[in-house]
Amino acid sequence: MRQTLKQLQQLKGVSRISMLTAYNCPVARSIEQAGIPIILVGDSVGMVEMGFSSTRDVTMDHMVYHIAAVRRGAPNTHIIGDLPHLSYETVEDAVDNAKRIITAGADSVKLEGPYYQAVQAITEAGIEVCAHTGLTPQKATSFKKVGKDAAEAEQILQESIQLQQAGAGMIVIEHVPAELGEKLTQALTIPTIGIGAGGQTDGQVLVINDALGIGDYWPPFSKQYAHVSDTILKVASQYKTEVETKQYP
Ligand code: KIV
Repeated sequence: MRQTLKQLQQLKGVSRISMLTAYNCPVARSIEQAGIPIILVGDSVGMVEMGFSSTRDVTMDHMVYHIAAVRRGAPNTHIIGDLPHLSYETVEDAVDNAKRIITAGADSVKLEGPYYQAVQAITEAGIEVCAHTGLTPQKATSFKKVGKDAAEAEQILQESIQLQQAGAGMIVIEHVPAELGEKLTQALTIPTIGIGAGGQTDGQVLVINDALGIGDYWPPFSKQYAHVSDTILKVASQYKTEVETKQYP
């Protein structure tokens, strides 16, 4: 049965948490079959599925479409839906758009950066929030690792504590040094989910297309478990040959 973020918090310090992104129904179905407890419908959809060069092009309509598809494939898995760029600049927008994400089929929402009032207001509206710190692609101008110097690391630590105080029930930590990932994990009572944040966070998240090897660029911190683009090329080429040479059908 699908769990709330509050229930998933009990896993901190007990067992590591796995999370994968998904954007469509069949992939979500396989992830649910594998028993992964959380699916993130991330705004990474814009880059890995839609061909945009940034997540900033993703809209609420895009998110609603993909969340609904993922829910149809994974009816029993906790789904976190990303609030896209500029959808939570005011507290009113944050609450309205969080409600839309939940209506589309998500169980909780994720937003990037130190938007404490938005986190508090969404939480007070009865919607669970996952925060996102470290590299925050909606505002970042490069994909370099962040938190490498002491001042930046301290700022990320303080922001994370305030996000927790504002009501965040989980936090994604992206592309920071492993020592900072560990420090945040020790400092916070909510689970930390790392992506390029070392091996000491409470859980890990990967973009499914990166893990599958669908695409032509993979961040340095993602592990490719398969090479699906190669398989697609092979199948398409074989099919072309078989149709042209009348071997199929
Ligand atoms: O949008 C996304 O997929 C994310 C992950 C990289 C954590 O935010």
